Amino acid sequence: MGCTPEAFLQVLSAPGTNFYHWNLCYENSTMFLSDKYRRGRGCRYSQSGRSSPQNFNRIIADLRVDGMTYKKKRPYSLENLTCKCGRSESVSAAANEEENRTWINGIAMDSDISKFELAQQLKNENGAVFSNIDLGTPGAINSKLNGVGDSFEDEAWDLLRASMVYYCGNPIGTIAANDPNDSSISNYDQVFIRDFVPSGLAFLLKGEYDIVRSFILHTLQLQSWEKTMDCHSPGQGLMPASFKVRTVPLEGDDSATEDVLDPDFGEAAIGRVAPVDSGLWWIILLRAYGKCSGDRSVQERVDVQTGIKMILKLCLADGFDMFPTLLVTDGSCMIDRRMGIHGHPLEIQALFYSALLSAREMLAPEDGSTDLITALNNRLVALPFHIREYYWTDMKKLNEIYRYKTEEYSYDAVNKFNIYPDQIPPWLVEWMPNKGGYLIGNLQPAHMDFRFFSLGNLWSIISSLATNEQSHAILDLIEAKWAELVADMPLKICYPALEGEEWRIVTGSDPKNTPWSYHNGGSWPTLLWQLTVACIKMNRPGIAENAVKIAERRLSRDKWPEYYDTKRGRFIGKQARLFQTWSIAGYLVAKLLLAKPESANILVNIEDTELVNAFSCMLSANPRRKRSRMGAKKSYII
Ligand code: GLC
Repeated sequence: MGCTPEAFLQVLSAPGTNFYHWNLCYENSTMFLSDKYRRGRGCRYSQSGRSSPQNFNRIIADLRVDGMTYKKKRPYSLENLTCKCGRSESVSAAANEEENRTWINGIAMDSDISKFELAQQLKNENGAVFSNIDLGTPGAINSKLNGVGDSFEDEAWDLLRASMVYYCGNPIGTIAANDPNDSSISNYDQVFIRDFVPSGLAFLLKGEYDIVRSFILHTLQLQSWEKTMDCHSPGQGLMPASFKVRTVPLEGDDSATEDVLDPDFGEAAIGRVAPVDSGLWWIILLRAYGKCSGDRSVQERVDVQTGIKMILKLCLADGFDMFPTLLVTDGSCMIDRRMGIHGHPLEIQALFYSALLSAREMLAPEDGSTDLITALNNRLVALPFHIREYYWTDMKKLNEIYRYKTEEYSYDAVNKFNIYPDQIPPWLVEWMPNKGGYLIGNLQPAHMDFRFFSLGNLWSIISSLATNEQSHAILDLIEAKWAELVADMPLKICYPALEGEEWRIVTGSDPKNTPWSYHNGGSWPTLLWQLTVACIKMNRPGIAENAVKIAERRLSRDKWPEYYDTKRGRFIGKQARLFQTWSIAGYLVAKLLLAKPESANILVNIEDTELVNAFSCMLSANPRRKRSRMGAKKSYII
């Protein structure tokens, strides 16, 4: 596309590549939930279904959501919505018979009744499927179920299936940790949105799509549920951090029970943190589902399209911010407690960018969403520029910062954020390799958080938020700093740990986040899958293979812990859960991807050349990137 203003405009108002007509989308969609259902009591659909059956499957409302009009249909008949006979198919008529087959502990179940009965039999108190097998013995599940116990992967699959959570007799997610010997389960008995991503990917890569479709559609119903904390409700479009399936007596019928989905948006979570990453992960998983299964009918549904738009609307809302990065509170992502990552942490920006690109691919053009698409495209142009330019650090950049002038009051300051060179931490001067670099953890006025955060850097590679050169440099750094970042257990969540006074001030003396433990420099096996995707994308799978080999030696023996402690990751984490599902699933996804690297494309975002062109148009129109008020307005608001 030529570098004309028209071309730029065209890019900014183009949604994605998947154009289709509204009517087509409408006809193909099989179930539309009214706002009433989306915001009903839990996911107790039966409670909301008060209308007459003949009203079902007809459009009931043109709802205006965030300035856009959406047509919605009522869901299924009352009978289908009660848990006694509710089925995952009720939220997706797109599935064919083979796809509908459910797997329970490795057994393919064709009949819904037997599915339900077996699920009930196997269901433990937490809603997870749990057999009588002794989980305490590595390899035990595998040997007792399959008769052979010789492979870590087989064991991991059995454990993953054992962590499946059932709603109305159908798998809907996986429990965060499934250790029968742990009495202090806290909220690890819930299905976490972010934790389910590697589980979902493992199932997708194995060709088992049902559970992922069911997860996507049911969590959608939880979106923006009217829960409040001290009289305040979360923003519309927010996805919960986690949810729990509760089985409760059916109202008016003592002999029956129903399952209710109970989401947590952070109002019960430790620290009351809102999970900004949940919606972003949901979009990323939705795209992966479509790409892997070939079933685009889910993303084309009107309720799903609405869900995507609600997440985008929330993320793209105007605020007081001067930066294109997303402004969040501390602990709004995988690190879900105070760790000094408030402001514009890299992890959120990388997931945000990936979600924006994924949404652009999936959104159907529709009257009324032009503004949203324009805002999305604007962000897609501005965000990578900001991150690549201001978050990047390597020897050269570090030396530039070292020589920064400060207190520059002007529109074209070099040191725009007024970073005082003294902020460069002594450890970094020694640590920065000659070859390699990384994106810093956070950037705020007069503050650069120089810690290396693995997830943010890996996901910047995967989403192409980092340039090609930067992506290679990040992997160079991981190789160069292997002894610190990988060591005895891949992968450190961040490096280095906060210690002493800094730990006291930043974490609030958090006894769980002591130096080199948990979020504060602990090692998290689940990060293996993200490392693997990034390495495959950059055609350097050998790095991930080496990391997997290290993890493999210990994970099964150590009962699949949540995280490891100490500088080299030598100890099982002090308070780490055992049989942590995303440690298990992360390992499986890494193995599956290494065996079939081309599958990684379900997660990777390739840099959009139209956006790159639009970006260079923007720059060439203003080569010195002068921040004149008029210029900035012209460049960004199109
Ligand atoms: C911990 C992790 C969080 C995860 C949760 C459940 O709180 O920090 O990222 O989602 O456990 O596993």
